[in-house]
Amino acid sequence: MKVVSTIKEVRDAVREWRKEGLTVGFVPTMGYLHEGHKSLIDKAVEENDRVVVSIFVNPTQFGPNEDLESYPRDLERDSSLCSDSGVNVIFTPQREEMYPEGFCTSINMTGLTENLCGKSRPVHFGGVCTVVTKLFNIVAPDKAYFGQKDAQQLAIIKRMVSDLNLNIEVVGCPIIREEDGLAKSSRNTYLSKEERRAAVILSKSLKLGLEAINSGERNSRNIIELIKGNIESEKLAKIDYVQIVDLLSMKDVETIEKPVLVAIAVYIGKTRLIDNFIFEI
Ligand code: PAJ
Repeated sequence: MKVVSTIKEVRDAVREWRKEGLTVGFVPTMGYLHEGHKSLIDKAVEENDRVVVSIFVNPTQFGPNEDLESYPRDLERDSSLCSDSGVNVIFTPQREEMYPEGFCTSINMTGLTENLCGKSRPVHFGGVCTVVTKLFNIVAPDKAYFGQKDAQQLAIIKRMVSDLNLNIEVVGCPIIREEDGLAKSSRNTYLSKEERRAAVILSKSLKLGLEAINSGERNSRNIIELIKGNIESEKLAKIDYVQIVDLLSMKDVETIEKPVLVAIAVYIGKTRLIDNFIFEI
């Protein structure tokens, strides 16, 4: 496995593979890899001849008061996880090469980006779309792997790839959880012991919501109130949003008649966590 940090080095590696007629899978990440990322990497290794993982804490998707500088980093540990998993190239782009002086182009998507996380993180998805497009253009993979953990991001990337006719297959992968149900996230490391215990309220409350839907409840407001009530029983938790949206448009639905995403964002102390499930009707 190679660790490269320039665009030229990745392109050279991919060009050699292409000459041999090999397929290329790509897993974009911000590093501090855990089993959630590993599940994407494993799938990519399984489905492609060669795999590139990018590790880049992309500054343009963080708001001014967010955790860009404190975001956890550990390239050494990430490298051994990747090499053990059969990754061929880790790409660690440099900020200056990704966003040189004078950089002024961005991908602007409306609609899908405006609800849920887009409301509380207004610059976030523009930054994600722009960096992912750049990475797609640099790596030029056959398939790219994204987690359902960031369900809105996955829907946005799928839409963007379709709207811009990018010749890449986007593969969605299920949420990997801790034993108690907490969705794995690099940001879980911010939690104190007490907060870590409290954080289980996200998956527990979603489970209640799913049970209600499974037993026939179709009124979104009732399900949302049930989930909110449960989250509020945890004193360390502060709700950002609890919403039920159409799986394709990310628009709120009043009655569940089509596949929906039930998505929540909750602060546990200062740490903002997200979780969700899909209900396919
Ligand atoms: P990051 O948060 O590092 O996540 C990289 C990928 O791992 C995303 O597709 C995310 O959905 C997936 N992932 C994270 N936790 C997961 C879990 N518990 N189960 C399954 N998949 C999980 O998402 C980003 O980075 C960035 O926005 C990026 C796409 C790299 C653009 O900068």
